[in-house]
Parts: sequence; structure tokens; C-alpha cells
Amino acid sequence: MCGIVGYAGSRAAQGILLKGLHSLEYRGYDSAGIAVLDGHDGMDVVCRTGKVDALDAALTGRGLAGTCGIGHTRWATHGRPSEENAHPHRDCSGRIAVVHNGIIENFAELKDRLVGEGHVFVSETDTEVVAHLLERFYEGDLLAAMRRCVSFLQGAFGLAAVCVDEPDRIVVTRRDSPIVIGAGGDCALVASDIPALIDVTRDVIYLDDDQFAVLHTSGDIECYARDGRQIEPKVSHIDWDVDVAERAGFEDFMDKEIHEQPRVVHDTLMGRLKDGRMTLDELALTSEQIAAIERIFIVACGSSYHAGLIGKNLIERWARIPVDIMVASEFRYSDPIVDGSTLVISITQSGETADTLAAMRLAHSHGSKVFTITNRVGSRASRESDGVIYTKAGLEISVAATKSFIAQVVALTCLALFLGQERGKLDGATVARLYAELNRTPGQIEHILLDTSAIERAAEACTQAHSALFVGRGIGSTVCYEGALKLKEISYLHAEAYAAGEIKHGPIALIDRNVPVVALACRSATYPQVVSNIQELRARTPSCVIVVATEGDEEIRKSADHVLYVPEIDECFQGITATVVFQLFARFIARARGCDVDQPRNLAKSVTVE
Ligand code: F6R
Repeated sequence: MCGIVGYAGSRAAQGILLKGLHSLEYRGYDSAGIAVLDGHDGMDVVCRTGKVDALDAALTGRGLAGTCGIGHTRWATHGRPSEENAHPHRDCSGRIAVVHNGIIENFAELKDRLVGEGHVFVSETDTEVVAHLLERFYEGDLLAAMRRCVSFLQGAFGLAAVCVDEPDRIVVTRRDSPIVIGAGGDCALVASDIPALIDVTRDVIYLDDDQFAVLHTSGDIECYARDGRQIEPKVSHIDWDVDVAERAGFEDFMDKEIHEQPRVVHDTLMGRLKDGRMTLDELALTSEQIAAIERIFIVACGSSYHAGLIGKNLIERWARIPVDIMVASEFRYSDPIVDGSTLVISITQSGETADTLAAMRLAHSHGSKVFTITNRVGSRASRESDGVIYTKAGLEISVAATKSFIAQVVALTCLALFLGQERGKLDGATVARLYAELNRTPGQIEHILLDTSAIERAAEACTQAHSALFVGRGIGSTVCYEGALKLKEISYLHAEAYAAGEIKHGPIALIDRNVPVVALACRSATYPQVVSNIQELRARTPSCVIVVATEGDEEIRKSADHVLYVPEIDECFQGITATVVFQLFARFIARARGCDVDQPRNLAKSVTVE
């Protein structure tokens, strides 16, 4: 999704803005631009379609001197990717410029009114109305104009604006769209995400909905509440390292992040078993409250939803609490049966996904407690929750979720064990045995990563396919959904995933000599059934059959063209190890097909619009 960066200080803004934009590239975008106030009654605005490199090239040798400016990476929603539609957008006079994340839902009606009043629009975007509204309300005070402007806006927005008449400041506000401010001492920054400012400062201020901030080139930062009162900003310190955002010798961030998974699992598990008992102190749930949970409802999107499916399986298995799950975009517009006896669990890596946040608010409005599993401290979802379990994945740059997904599965596994223990469904010995088994997964992932040649060979056999069919049972079917999603999103090869028992009811018709079958057949209670399903599929002559199986299973070779072995583990934890195989499989195919693995087309890392 779009990225915002702004700098007000004493250094040349151009380089800082461009660096900030590069660090937001992972969010996904299709054009980029900056506006820099020159301090002499003028403003330079440069935009380019494509990558930030194109903007870099356009600015090479120009060396804009201004020390106050804003920049943006745009992910097209209203209007195709073009220089006209790229941000920053300006008013008719060219004296005000604005960058925007989110969607102005009533822009068409506002635009009609502004055009009727004589404003001239040059883009197809919703954002341009903000520039013209600011012009309409500007009477020498950009903050006052911004206040009046947002009172007319419906939708979601993070906004940063500058005006040549106030060359020493940036005005910022937000509603339902992430904005973070950097307090650099002698400078101030604004960004839609921390990587864009961490190079300059680790001290940040999270702006709340409908708050405003004015960033001065002196470094002063003024924050204002919705009612206009000046408020004391709360400064938080970021303690993770910039080098986590570097590739560290890997060919792409996805590969690096896949290889970080043993550490991520280990860190997410650390300290969970104390004196033989699972602990989730951060949820602050009393025994009475746990006993009173009648149902659990999980809401999430994409890969986080797949993690939720594994969570449902484990919570029902170990705690015997019924669990419903719905994608957040459906839940938010449904009439869900949730109340004070339902615990709602939202799962969101970024903590900023618009649909998940809306689902959480709906659940709250029905009187449910909402717990969040997220990777982002200070994110919107964490601040709106009654309890948070933080995953320890660290910053994930590649658009495709890998280590964040695995960390969610581990956190949900701990939650399921905890609920099973607290509801008296799992005795101490069983919890200890399962926890010990779970603790084997980091070593098992390392083992899988040690030699990936068989996965690469299987991937080579599929690069020319036009579609792939993934099948599994139980937790295995969920792993297949995630495997198929990874494949489609980074390689653009169509993939379907089905519970293996369902194939006879339709999907088997898809099989022909161009369609590989990818089956998950690790040792489990349903192993014999999956093997029969593989035979049924094989009989329809797919292009090849690839099977993920348990080490030592030689028999399975008779049913497969490629066998990808994973170490033996209790089936409850196969979601952790087998997913790693599918991540690597998708990445090998994507690279062979020449795709941009880290920034797949049309996708964004943080989906902050509906
Ligand atoms: C897939 C992927 C997406 C996200 C989804 C939810 O690789 O990354 O499907 O899982 O957009 O994002 P979060 O977890 O940030 O709410």
C-alpha cells in the first residue's frame, strides 16, 4: 500500500526522502514522488512511475536544496499508475502539496463541488480533492486549513501537507491509516512505517485517529487532539536494528526471511513453559474468565487467516472450545453471532489491515473481548485490543508472509496449549510432551534448509505449468491453502488447494498433463486416506506428482515423481515444518519464471484500505 515520508530539519530533504521511500518499497507501489520546499517561495515536485530508482534517476544531479519536504510511494486505487496520478498532489496555485495513504470515500462529491467553484483537477485520484480543499480553506495557517479540510472527508487517510507560505513545517493527520512521527531532536519526520525513519531516529510518536501534528524544521513537534487542545506527545523508543532490513547476503528478502524461521520459532516460544505450565501472562485472563468462554471467533485475512485455520484445529483439539473463523472482510459486513461469552481473536502481522481492524471494532460493539496476535508493537490492532500476543518475527520486508506466518502458527499453538491446560483438558504431562515436541521444530526447519536441492528439482518440473493442485487433510489441508497462496502470489502460477477428500467432488476435473499435483502426506491419522487420494489423482495423469512426506517413508516413492522429505513430528506441528517446504517451492518457481519475489505485482505488504 502507499507509503508516506516527510522530513523537516536542517539537512537537504531530498536524500532523506528518497532513502525513506526506498525503505517503504516493501509495502508495494507503482509510482513515487517528492515535493521539497525551496525556502524561497517555491517548491520542487518530481514524480515518476515505476520504482523509486526511476525517481532517483530523475533527481540525479538536481540536488534540491530545501530542508523540508514530503514523499510518497503510490499503490494505485483511483486512476492508473501515471505521473499525473502520482503523489504529491498540488492545489491550483501550486503552493500547497499533499501526500495521502488510504481512500477518500466521498471524493467524487467533493470534486464536483470544487470543480463547480472553479478548481482545476489534473489527476484521476481521490487525493487531489485534499489539495484543493486545503487551498479553499487556507488563510495563512496550514494547520487550521487541514482541520477544516478533514471535517469534510469520509474514509481512511494518513495525510502530510506542506505550503510554500510556511516553509518550515509539515502538517500531519490521520484517520484509520497508519502514521508515525519521528522525533529526531534537531529534526522531525513523518512516515507510514518505522523503516522510513529509523535511519534518522529511533524515538517515535504514534498519532491517534483525528489527531494533528505540526513538524518544524527546528525539530519541534506539536501534537493536537481532535478538539484542538495541544497535547503532550508520548515518545516510544524503537529497539530493533536497521540491519534487519538488509538482505545480509541472501538473494532476496523472502529467502532471508525463510532462513530466519528457526530463530523466529525459538523466540516466539521462549519463556512460555514455566514450572511445567504454559503461561500467557500478557492476556491477563483469570481462571473464571477462561472457564466462561463459550466460543472463540477468529478473524483475519490472507495468510493470517490460514494461520487461524490451524489455530482453530488445535484449540478445538486441545481445549474443546468451539471455534468459528471468518475472513475479516466478510465478518465486518456480516451479522455475527458473538457476544460477551465469545472471545474474538484477530490475527494480523502488520496490525494495520483495514478489514481486520473493522472486524475487531464490530466484535467490540457486540460486547466481545478481542485479543490480537500481531507482529507489530504499537500497531493499531495492538492498541485496540483487550490483550495482545506479540509474535517475535521481527520486521518482514518481503510482501509474501513467511516468518510472520510461522510465528503466528507458533503463537496460536501456545494459546491452544494454554487454553487446554486452563480448561483442564490437557494434563501437565501432555502439555510438557507437546511443548517438547514443538521445541523440536526450529531444529527441524534448520534441517530442511540445509539441503533444498530436491525442492528445487521439483520446482523446475513445474515452472511451465499453467495451474497446480495442492491437496492434504486436516492441518495438512490448511498448509496446502497457504502453499497455493504463496505460489500464486509470487510466481503468478494459478494454484488451487483442496482438502484431499473433496477432489472427487469437482477439482479432479482440473487434472491434465499441464497440471502438477502437490500433496502433503506426512505421517498422520489420515495418512492412508491421503495416499489413496494421491492414487486417484495420479490415475488422471497430471504433469507430475510431488509429495511432501515424512523421512523414512520409502513406500511413498511408488506414488510420486518427487518426494520432499520433512523430519518426523507430531501431526499437530506439521503446519510449521511442511509450510517451509512450500515457501521454498514457491520461491524456486517464482525465480525460475523471472518474477520479482519480494515485490509481486499488484500486491501490498500492509493492506490499509478496504
Ligand atoms: C500473503 C500475505 C497476505 C497477508 C494479508 C493479511 O503472503 O502476506 O495474504 O497475510 O494481507 O495481512 P496482515 O497479517 O498484516 O493482516
